Formats: sequence, structure tokens, C-alpha cells
Amino acid sequence: MSPVLLLDLVHGCCPTCAGSSLPDVPGSDVHVFLLCGKQYRAENGLADAFLNSSRSVQVLDFGSTAESLYRLKQAVDQLDLSSVTVVTTPQGQKALAPYLQQLFTDVYTFDYKILTCPCCTGSAHTDSPGPGVREEVSALVQQLPGLRGEVTVLRSNLIPDCFGHGFSTRTGGVSYIPTLSSMNLFNSSKRRDPEVVVMENRRRLALHAGFHPKPLRLVKVNHASDVWVMGEAEPENYDGIVTNQPGVVLAAPGADCMPLLFADPVSKVIGAAHAGWRGTLMGVAMAIVKAMVTGFGCQVSNIVVAVGPSVGACCFTLEKEQALDFSSIHPDCVPDPESSRPHVNIRLANRLLLQKGGILPEHIHDDTVTDQPSVTLCTSCHPELFFSHVRDGANFGVQLGFLWIRDC
Ligand SMILES: *[C@@H]1O[C@H](CO)[C@@H](O)[C@H](O)[C@H]1NC(C)=O
Ligand SMILES: *[C@@H]1O[C@H](CO)[C@@H](O)[C@H](O)[C@H]1NC(C)=O
Repeated sequence: MSPVLLLDLVHGCCPTCAGSSLPDVPGSDVHVFLLCGKQYRAENGLADAFLNSSRSVQVLDFGSTAESLYRLKQAVDQLDLSSVTVVTTPQGQKALAPYLQQLFTDVYTFDYKILTCPCCTGSAHTDSPGPGVREEVSALVQQLPGLRGEVTVLRSNLIPDCFGHGFSTRTGGVSYIPTLSSMNLFNSSKRRDPEVVVMENRRRLALHAGFHPKPLRLVKVNHASDVWVMGEAEPENYDGIVTNQPGVVLAAPGADCMPLLFADPVSKVIGAAHAGWRGTLMGVAMAIVKAMVTGFGCQVSNIVVAVGPSVGACCFTLEKEQALDFSSIHPDCVPDPESSRPHVNIRLANRLLLQKGGILPEHIHDDTVTDQPSVTLCTSCHPELFFSHVRDGANFGVQLGFLWIRDC
């Protein structure tokens, strides 16, 4: 049996079931959750038996199934557990499964123990969610308070007002898992944030930044240098996107890796790229510039680039051999080449590669620019503002750089 037991008293587990096939009241190492309709709880002797016997029993009798199961998830996450046994009827499984699918991810497993009790399969206990589970769950997360403060966006004054743009920070979202909290914007079935939470965070960001309800066009994260020019066939993988279509919101993720935003105010063309150390070496930044030039006739000297929050040379090291590749871009990219694990300045490497490709030095906003508000803070040094893979480990949250052409 899983260390977490969800007993569905809404669709099953009535006192009649209790007399037949229900599991014994488990030991105190099992965390028991009773999913209850309000009126049902009082009448159910079984609930009492569990409540009386085991030390770790929580009653889930919130206003809706969605909320009760959301509270279950919070409790499971708090315990750092991921496997749940659900005791219910066939009808209950049918009703609960869509909620669990919306609220949980592949990180979690649910084993069903199905009871067939004539009493519970009758209509008396139906509390069927109907088709709108997704909407119900979305509505629930929309009501959650923002965590860690207000939604905050950093902006570069190098990108003019005919574009909307920004770099997100980690505040004001609804993700409560410590390393994802709170404005995690990356949807991955391998993390504990379900899609619905990530989408709610994106909605809040969009409202704040002024692009709601437009969806984001997110680059894939392949750590290479392929670029998708929108309008052409979409490649399977790309770390950059370029477009001249007004209203399309391009976005690039980062959590140490750099979100890079490109804009040509003359031709009204934009690009976004994700550049980690591999993408930097493969030249993803200049691949964007080239796509803007060849795809849309941009002049390199008109293009401005904003380098988003990313890991600074203070906090980023590589193997000696990989660091050498950065030394060969410029010795300044590796301040301590003799160290066994040298520090690497991936931002400087991108600046130098862009300048070599013809981007004007003053058209690059990064941490060398000190007379303007910084958009290129170190993600690892600022836990209150940013997610960081090197700092937070595998279950890290992700911020975004985003950019669009205003209809003007
Ligand atoms: C549970 O405990 C309450 C109060 O202590 C008691 O009134 C009730 O009879 C008990 N129920 C069961 C099923 O043991
Ligand atoms: C989120 O991730 C899941 C699983 O990888 C995928 O099926 C789904 O399409 C993604 N949703 C969005 C909006 O990208």
C-alpha cells in the first residue's frame, strides 16, 4: 500500500462497503485522506472509525471536488510523497480520474482499489463532475492568491515602445512547491506543477505585461542553434524563433540559461532565443541575427538585443575542457582558466559573438550596462527574484523572456 490513502466517501466506501471489502484501518505511517461530501461525512461510521483510529487522517470536505483534490496534492507535496492509493467505486474512479489528471503530473502514481458495493453504485452517491472538469480546475487556480509578492517584470529601455517585452521574475504566481514557487512558467510532466498551474501563471504574467489573452510561442529547449522563422515549416526542435507578425508573443525560457530578445525597430522584426552554454558555443545568438537578415532584410546595425536574467560568471563553472572553448572565444570569458573547474562568463561570450557579427556594442543590454536598470541579474545570486538550476537542482522553476510587435 502507498503511504497515502485516499478514501472516496463521495462515490463509495459507504458503511455497507465497510462491512465487506474495505481495507483495514492502516497503521499510523499511512496518511489517510477522506474525500467527503459535507452531509455524507456525518452519516458515515467508516469515516469515524478512521478518524478515531489513525493519527494521520485529514478530511477533505472543501467546497468542490477540485478544491478537495487540490488540498490533497498540497498535503502530498508537503510530505514529499508521490504515490497514492485511491479506494473508490468504478463510478468514483470515472469521476475522480479527470480531476487527478488535471491536478497532478507524471511524477505521481495512483493505484485504484475498486470496490463494488451495490449501495455505492446506486444514484444516491452521484456527485458527477460532468464535462467541465478542466474549467472547474482552472477556475479554482484562478482564485488562488499570488505567492511571494506581486507579479514583477524587468524591462530593457533598449527595446522601444513599438514592441511589448519583458523578463519575468519568480514572484506573484500560484506555484507553491518551494523550488517552483511561485511564477513557474514551464510546463513539464516531469515536475510537480501541473499544466493548469503553469497556464494560470502565464495568464497572470500576460495580464500584467499586457499581452492577455494571446498565447506564448515558446522556443523548444534543445541546447542547439536552430531557429524557426515563423511562416516557414516548423522544425522539430529550435532554440530560437523569428517573426514579423504583429501580436505573436515570442518567448524563451531560462533558469540560468539566458533568454535573449532581439528587435529591429526599423523593419519591425523580432526574435527570441534560449542560450545556455552549449547554445552559446553553437552560435544561437548570431543564428537569430542571420535569420532576421536573410528572412526579413533587417540591417544588423539596427538590431538591439536584451540579455535576460541568467547565471553570472560568479556562479557558473564548467569542466576544464568545455571552459577552453570559451577561452578561445576570448580569454576574458574564463577568469580562472587554471582552476580545476573554471568559472565561465556565458553572457560575455554572447556579447562578443554578437559584436563580431556586427551588432553594435551599445545595442546590447547586459550586465556591462551600468547606467540603466539591469535586466541581466544573476539568477543564482538572487533567490528572491529568480529560479536557478545550478542553485535549486532538478526540480527547478523557469522564468521567461517575452516579446511581441504591437499593432501600431
Ligand atoms: C469515534 O470517537 C467518538 C468520540 O470520541 C465516539 O463518539 C464514536 O463512537 C467513535 N466512533 C467509532 C466508530 O469508533
Ligand atoms: C504541457 O505538457 C504536456 C505534457 O508534456 C503536454 O501534453 C501539453 O500539451 C503541454 N501543454 C502546453 C500548453 O504546452
